[in-house]
Amino acid sequence: MSGMGPMTERVVTSVLLALWRRPETTMAAVLRETLAPVPEVREALGVLRERRCLIEEEPGGALRLVSTGLACWRDVLEDMARREKLRVGRRVMVFFRTSSTNDVAWQCAVNPEMDGLVVVADEQTAGRGRLGHVWSAKAEQSVLMSVLLRGGARERGGVERNAEWLTMVTGLAVAAAVEEAAPGIEARIKWPNDVLIGGRKVAGILAERRGAANEEAVVVGIGINVMQGSGDFPGGIAERATSMYQATGRAVDRLRVAAAVVRKLDACVSGGGAGAGQGRGEESWIREWKDRCGMIGMRITARSAAEGGGVLSGEVVDVDPLEGLVVRDAAGAVHFLSAQRTTLSEDEPRKGR
Ligand code: BTN
Repeated sequence: MSGMGPMTERVVTSVLLALWRRPETTMAAVLRETLAPVPEVREALGVLRERRCLIEEEPGGALRLVSTGLACWRDVLEDMARREKLRVGRRVMVFFRTSSTNDVAWQCAVNPEMDGLVVVADEQTAGRGRLGHVWSAKAEQSVLMSVLLRGGARERGGVERNAEWLTMVTGLAVAAAVEEAAPGIEARIKWPNDVLIGGRKVAGILAERRGAANEEAVVVGIGINVMQGSGDFPGGIAERATSMYQATGRAVDRLRVAAAVVRKLDACVSGGGAGAGQGRGEESWIREWKDRCGMIGMRITARSAAEGGGVLSGEVVDVDPLEGLVVRDAAGAVHFLSAQRTTLSEDEPRKGR
């Protein structure tokens, strides 16, 4: 943006925020809201387009922000966090390309100021999934995001337990965010960390803790398939994966998805026990999680990811936010399966779905 003074940069931000807050707006409304003269607003629209925002403009003056370039995400998310007093998103770091957003968040973990940090990227060169799997996604199609929580996600339980709890509430937050950003679709949860649309994976979650058990930090990484077409997934996962675009047939602004995740995750992790919906108690979010998951009563086979780990078949009898999946085997013994160490397969299709 060479040659652009600080005054113009301020107008660019105000025009961006005006478009973001009212995605279907008019030139007249933007002029009123920003109190900037027409030539400056025009210049600002040009700058936003250079920053890869897709802004439609009709001859009658209607303006529509269709999608928001990554270079603008920080302004929007930090403004939202400030206005809504959110813990998550008070600080946002944006990368066009990085190794893994989880790694960047971990590099910041020693700094107490960084609680609630959100790291986003257009592309990762070493994205990772649960149990050491690779998470690969073409550039500019996904929400690739990590959130750093210091001081423990919750006061009780400690960090180790928080990783299980955080995986669950993040799944709920992501499922709700996906539905909010693409009305009409139904997102389900597959324990422990998958969000599905129509039985196919649309998002995955990787909650990590590192170091000593008393090290009070967790990082939760979230990968959401937003704009992938059918040819964009690697061969091995193409039949099991989907994107919000594939599910709806409509383009979705990735920033709308990211912002919805930030809001809903914040509702879960700040303030004692509020679930994905504001002001609801712990019981309520667990119930919502179970409704979205629908695994209770299912027969599954679970494999422990630990070296030499065993195989267990049984019926899912419950899900516990801290202990994980509760499974009863054929002999009637009850087992608690940790999300950090288990892979699952279903023995029979779910009824009624
Ligand atoms: C899984 O389904 O196994 C979890 C996938 C998590 C992927 C996200 S993408 C953003 C963040 N950075 C990573 O390296 N992984 C997570």
